[in-house]
Amino acid sequence: MASKLFTPIKIGKLEIRNRFMRSATWDAMADSSGLVSERSAALYHELNTGGIGLIVTGFAYVSSPLGQAGIGQYGIYNDTMIPGWKPIIKEAHDNGSKIAMQIVHAGINSGYLEKKDVSLDAVSVIPKLAARPHHEMTDEEIESIIADFVAAGVRAREAGFDAVQLHGAHGYLFSQFASTLFNHRTDKWGGIPENRRRFHLEVISRLRKALGPDYPILIKFGVQDDREGGLTLAEGLETCHQMVKAGLNGIEVSAGIGSAIARLREGEVSKIVFRERAAAVKKAVKVPVAVVNGVRNITVAEDIIDSGDADMISMSRPFIREPHLLLRWQKGETSQAKCISCGKCMPIAIKNESLECGEEKRLREEAHK
Ligand SMILES: Cc1cc2nc3c(=O)[nH]c(=O)nc-3n(C[C@H](O)[C@H](O)[C@H](O)COP(=O)(O)O)c2cc1C
Repeated sequence: MASKLFTPIKIGKLEIRNRFMRSATWDAMADSSGLVSERSAALYHELNTGGIGLIVTGFAYVSSPLGQAGIGQYGIYNDTMIPGWKPIIKEAHDNGSKIAMQIVHAGINSGYLEKKDVSLDAVSVIPKLAARPHHEMTDEEIESIIADFVAAGVRAREAGFDAVQLHGAHGYLFSQFASTLFNHRTDKWGGIPENRRRFHLEVISRLRKALGPDYPILIKFGVQDDREGGLTLAEGLETCHQMVKAGLNGIEVSAGIGSAIARLREGEVSKIVFRERAAAVKKAVKVPVAVVNGVRNITVAEDIIDSGDADMISMSRPFIREPHLLLRWQKGETSQAKCISCGKCMPIAIKNESLECGEEKRLREEAHK
């Protein structure tokens, strides 16, 4: 294949063997304290042996309990979380993949279920956006979460991860600070765009200090909201520029607030909803840019990379159905990923606490009728 898809790329000093990422995917397989389980090891074994350039873990919460987004989520809020990852990381390395940990704080979107009466850490109090009790964080509370992000990054490096990725998309805490839909503050954390990106820049610059000059710091970033009154593309692009200045090494362009996971039907796979945004980010920064959401077709992937709209292709759901998808693409098979983007994997994960392709489950059940 003449395209650049299977050629290496460097993120900072980290060399990745090809242009494919497994986008962070919550698998609901951690135990109740956030530790990896045997089921996690089996899932990562499939990913580790699938030829992926950079694997990103499901989002791991940095503060417990309030940073947690949902059940069965990995934690990275204390040192006991470190050892369980070591064999998984070693296996990734033995098979030529690099592996990054995604870290998150859910803020007002915490789905933490057991302590229903606890007040969530919110950027601002917005009752119509959260059914659960929440409060506007004090300066001290914000500082404590920044410290939690830094400690989590240090733990990820200690575990042996090749990089750390901040979850700055999909309405979690970074999105909540960035977006005027969630951020109504009038202090140094809200109002003008400079204030709404302060949290991002503080986390990145302090992580950079803690991790030294070379350790890769990445972000999955919702560069624009798709709801009126939210983050504009121009603001998002300036945030990208500032984050790189603060020490960021790579950006995966994803959904902001109001941009649901694309539920593309078969036949529509050439429309990559965030392609234009990724291309705009690429013009704004000099670090590698990945695009995620809806890529199912190798010809489309090639076109994105070869046109220069992005440096890497990131996929989540295709690897749920076919963790070894890239092995067949690399062999020259061109049929598209079997994932039909039905999105059923998400409710299955919520209900069954496991990661499974909904379409495969449906076909299996039909065959047994
Ligand atoms: C079951 C499931 C879990 C997910 N978990 C995460 C996550 O932990 N962190 C994250 O940034 N995105 C998460 N996502 C979003 C995906 O990484 C990805 O951005 C989205 O599915 C679109 O890409 P795709 O079309 O290749 O699936 C999840 C998606 C699904 C379906």
